[in-house]
Amino acid sequence: MKLGIAADHGGYALKQILIERLSQKGFQVIDFGNHTLDVDDDYPDYVLPLAQAIARGEVERGIAVCGSGVGASIAANKVLGVRAALVHDHFSAHQGVEDDDMNLLCLGGRIIGIETATEIIFEFLNAKFTHAERHLRRLGKIELYIAAERK
Ligand code: RB5
Repeated sequence: MKLGIAADHGGYALKQILIERLSQKGFQVIDFGNHTLDVDDDYPDYVLPLAQAIARGEVERGIAVCGSGVGASIAANKVLGVRAALVHDHFSAHQGVEDDDMNLLCLGGRIIGIETATEIIFEFLNAKFTHAERHLRRLGKIELYIAAERK
């Protein structure tokens, strides 16, 4: 699976470790930055390009890390076709994909430890959307809302 990853200064350290771990497991990881630790950087500069790459199908899924994960999820969800969520528990990591077709996982680099983050990411990556009728119906309602809002 081809993955994208992005982080600001709040998530930079975690991102670097995750890239190493995911690459070791055979994932192709595209790093959308930041490529250096810059305490003055802004998460939208890295998260939005990652989200756009997901929306365009250039990467299948993404991981975005900021200090809390909140800013990353707010930014990513502005991109049409991206379904991002801040997840710090194992259950939501797989159920978010199975039920809600989540394609971008957001983490708080200042909140979560590396081992828990790694396990949560593998729950996310191993999960598949069920395509159950009720889930498609719910996602369809969100798409309808977006289409109406953008008219
Ligand atoms: C940056 O200091 C911090 O605000 C950012 O990484 C993130 O936590 C925003 O949600």
